[in-house]
Amino acid sequence: MRLEVIWKPAVAVLLLLAPASAFLPVTPTLHRASARIQRAAPICSTAQRPAAPEWPLWQCTQEELTQTLFRNEFVVDSNALDSTKLTEREAAFLPDDFFQRREKKALSSRQANAALLQDIKAYLDDTEGMDREEHEKVLKIRPHPEALGKDYYSTLSAVLLHLLRDWGPECEDNVVKEMYEPMVNELLKHKPITAGEKPPTVFVPGSGLSRLPYELMMAGYDVECNENSKIFVTLADYIFNHCSKTQSISPMSHIFVENMRLSDQFFQTQIPSPLPRAEALAQDKHMTMSVGDMVEIYQKGGSGHRKVDCVMTCFFIDTCDDLIDYVETIDNMLNEGGVWINFGPLNYQPTLKLKLVWEEMRALWEHLGYDFVQESRVDHCYNLKHGIRLHTERYDAVFSTAIKGTRKAA
Ligand SMILES: C[S@@+](CC[C@H](N)C(=O)[O-])C[C@H]1O[C@@H](n2cnc3c(N)ncnc32)[C@H](O)[C@@H]1O
Repeated sequence: MRLEVIWKPAVAVLLLLAPASAFLPVTPTLHRASARIQRAAPICSTAQRPAAPEWPLWQCTQEELTQTLFRNEFVVDSNALDSTKLTEREAAFLPDDFFQRREKKALSSRQANAALLQDIKAYLDDTEGMDREEHEKVLKIRPHPEALGKDYYSTLSAVLLHLLRDWGPECEDNVVKEMYEPMVNELLKHKPITAGEKPPTVFVPGSGLSRLPYELMMAGYDVECNENSKIFVTLADYIFNHCSKTQSISPMSHIFVENMRLSDQFFQTQIPSPLPRAEALAQDKHMTMSVGDMVEIYQKGGSGHRKVDCVMTCFFIDTCDDLIDYVETIDNMLNEGGVWINFGPLNYQPTLKLKLVWEEMRALWEHLGYDFVQESRVDHCYNLKHGIRLHTERYDAVFSTAIKGTRKAA
């Protein structure tokens, strides 16, 4: 299971039960005076301006960003730094500098993440009320208000892990070179870019922080991606339409299991790498991101329904509430001769009714008239490479390419 899926429900229950004051960063009071810790003042204040009535529905408000930061800090602080939780007996067993060792790293991590959030909030301030058309030079955001609402990824922790996956230099080899690039190469093989002709159209549903659509756009394709998480879209807008320099983040400071060293848990990385805004503007590239549930927007009769030459599903098909809804919507979008490139596991939600094994999924697509031209298994580490943490989120994912065959008229 993806890490955030495992611990999210437990944390969510705790957070729901906790009073609002619990989200204010804790100030550790150590049992031993020699190890007393000076804490930095909270970087974000709770006193945020309320969102203006015309605040875009797809975008997080300042208050929502502050709350998600506080929740993340609460998890880190209460697990790493709250000495009041220690019994006298536990304290007696630990070395005197136990908290000091952690604190330096944990505070530096917290400052990095808070600074990122501060920068995003400043960006939201600067762009409030601006003409979006004018501002969205690289990522054109298309909200579909009727399809907003479902949002399974609403935490800063999920964002930090996806920032690492898509835009962290540590994942350049195992994520970009070993997954996104082969997907783009498959498309180049089946729907090449031809000089003087309109580029083929590609749809990427559930694109997260959108490195795959970025690679496709830079390769010359006409790209539309889609995402239903408000915080992911807020971050994607920031990365593609604003970020002109890299930022330090600490993407794993909230994960307290399977760490070898403190420096692994609290490591910092620089994102985004590369800088997508600068790269895209230099080559006059742009792409579109629709916001809302993929099925509601793109099903036949949906406000965004259209035909495309390729659909790329990357760690997406198993996110469905109804598998047939996903397959039917995507199938209806593909032109005959169109390509469906898929990469990922089948890590379904427990509540999903129809859970197909890959063999059955493949048979279902073949039944619809798809011809599989390539299928392989790829050892894929979801973010950090194997060998750093004591456990790595790792999949033997299926990578497949299927071409939509000609349909007989009904
Ligand atoms: C496991 S993540 C993968 C993200 C990205 N494709 C990647 O490989 O890093 C699944 C993504 O799909 C999005 N998602 C899930 N269900 C969706 C739906 N019905 N419509 C649009 N996006 C959805 C989630 O918000 C999340 O960003």
